[in-house]
Order: sequence, then structure tokens, then C-alpha cells
Amino acid sequence: SYPQRVKIVEVGPRDGLQNEKELVPTDVKVELCDRLSAAGFPNVEATSFVSPKWVPQMADGAEVMARIARRPGTIYSVLTPNMKGFEGALAAKADEVVIFGAASEAFSQKNLNCSIAESMDRFAPVAEAAKAHGIRLRGALSTALGCPYQGEVPIEDVLYVARRFKEMGCIEIDIADTIGVATPQKVRKVMEAVAKEFPIEGIAGHFHDTYGQAVANVVAALDVGISIFHSSAAGLGGCPFAKGATGNVASEDVLYLMRGLDIETGVDLDAVVDTGQWISAHLQRKSSRAGNAIAAKR
Ligand code: HMG
Ligand code: MG
Repeated sequence: SYPQRVKIVEVGPRDGLQNEKELVPTDVKVELCDRLSAAGFPNVEATSFVSPKWVPQMADGAEVMARIARRPGTIYSVLTPNMKGFEGALAAKADEVVIFGAASEAFSQKNLNCSIAESMDRFAPVAEAAKAHGIRLRGALSTALGCPYQGEVPIEDVLYVARRFKEMGCIEIDIADTIGVATPQKVRKVMEAVAKEFPIEGIAGHFHDTYGQAVANVVAALDVGISIFHSSAAGLGGCPFAKGATGNVASEDVLYLMRGLDIETGVDLDAVVDTGQWISAHLQRKSSRAGNAIAAKR
């Protein structure tokens, strides 16, 4: 049976916007975060503290964090690849820092400009510092279900990173389908294997929807007891260093699914539909399928 309640982490302001070519005004980013927290998401991934040369879109992360209206109870997360990122996150009073590693060497090089082993050496002091400052620590595990450069990724390589993240003190890990290639049976297999290494309550499904499989993959993950999912309003998203990747699974699609399954999220779907329509209009994109369908019936 499915969990009664799931946690939906809204990653639109970070994963959703990082891939946008045109710089999105800081005002828009701030409004996006505020609309999403007001809609009831318990966790909003607000920005990244990464090299502005690598991801120019996230260069205003400190300003975004300074200007959002902090909703009590909402966890605001930021990506931190190294200590420089952690210092930024600390100054910005982030509630949670996210170290992000890959299960494939090729993707680690493209995304972090270093090997998996080197990335772990950079994450370890971030983990220590997070612990010392009482900041939540999460680990994102990219290419856990396939790599744009390597293709298949052995489960053992996924488990290696999951173990390292656990040793470092991550309270959650995100099993990420960076390029959206997975199908449900694969998701079940990988999630089941990871759940032998990491407490299942702390495992999140982070699915991109490149091949239209993301909602099916969410259901597959629910089947094996996963209860945290990442999504982005309007299905924005993608990683600039993952060739061919498109957006995250849309929050509207996931919330519509959860409503149909009678699973509580605490998130107001109508408010997310409005937000998806608003940000899509701003970026001149189409919103999500569920978002457009709900908006069209009004
Ligand atoms: P590097 O060039 O090897 O780093 O990049 P470096 O240490 O040699 O530093 C180069 C320059 O960057 C220096 O500045 C540093 O100060 C600066 P310069 O002296 O040239 O003026 N720098 C920084 N500036 C601000 N904040 C920092 C920082 N670190 C260094 N934290 C590095 C290595 C990791 C920095 C780089 O590769 C990088 O920033 N990568 C981030 C890539 C990224 O953000 N990718 C997208 C997010 S991951 C994702 O989308 C996947 C996910 O959604 C899950 C999934 O779907 O798979 C999470
Ligand atoms: Mg992603």
C-alpha cells in the first residue's frame, strides 16, 4: 500500500531555472520561491552556490535568499559543491545544503570538473561544516538511472555513492534520473537496492521527464515505499551539463497524481497551477500537462 502522505520538494527555482539561457530577473526568482512556499511546499530548492562561470543563471543566489519571504516551517535548500559554496549557503542562512555527486565518472567530470573520488573529498568538509552549524545535509545522486555519456550505470556504483553520503551524515539522498531515461522496472530495482543501504524514509525520487516516463516512475517508487519526490512547477528544468536532459517531472502532474491516489501532500494544487502558468508566461514556454488542463477548465 502507498504511504498516506508524501513530501514534495519543489526544485523549480534551482533545477527549473538553471538551464534557462536568458537570465531570469532576480525579482522573478524571488516571486517564484514565495509563490511556491505559499502554495504549501514543505521544501523549496531555492538556488545554487556554484561557480557563476559554470552556471551564470544562479549567480544571484545570495540576493534571492536575502529577499525571499521566509515561510516558517519551509525548508529552503541550496546546492553546495564545495566549501566556497557552503560559505555562501551559511551566509544566506540556508536551512539545508545539498552536496551533489554522480554515479558515473563521465558525468562527474562534466558537472563538477573532477572525479567521483575528488568530489567526495570536497563534500566531506561541507558535511562536517553543516553538522557543526546544525544545517541539514542532503546528497543528490546524479545519473543513478543512466548517464548521457556512459549509458548504463551499474547499481554497485550508485550504492557506493549512497554509502558515502550516508557516512557523511546525509539525512536524505536523491536518486536522480538526470536525463529521464529510466522506466518503472528499473526504478523499482534501483530504489530497492538503495533502500538496503540507506533508510527508505530518507530516499527521494528526482525524476526528469525527457522520455515521458517520470509520472510512471513516481508510481514505481511509491510501490517500493519511497515517500519523497522532487518536481518543478510547469515542469521546468534540466542540467546544462547533461546533454539532452529536459525538465523535471511537473509539480502539477505529481500533485494531480497524488490527489488521485488519495495521498496527502499539504500542497495546494490550484496555487501551483497558477504559479506554473505565471512562470511559463514569463519564460514563454508551455506549462505542464496537468497545469494546462486544469487552467483550461476554469
Ligand atoms: P572548477 O573550475 O574546477 O573550480 O569548477 P575551481 O575550484 O578551480 O574554481 C574556479 C572558479 O570558480 C574560481 O573563481 C572559484 O573561486 C570559483 P576564479 O578564481 O576563476 O574567479 N568557484 C566558486 N564560485 C562560487 N561558488 C562556488 C565556487 N566554487 C568555485 N561554490 C565547480 C568546479 C564545482 C566549482 C564547478 O564545476 C561548478 O560550479 N559546477 C556546478 C555545476 C552545476 O551547478 N550543475 C548543475 C547542478 S547539478 C544538477 O542539476 C543535477 C541534479 O538536479 C540532480 C540530477 O538531476 O541529476 C542535482
Ligand atoms: Mg535534476
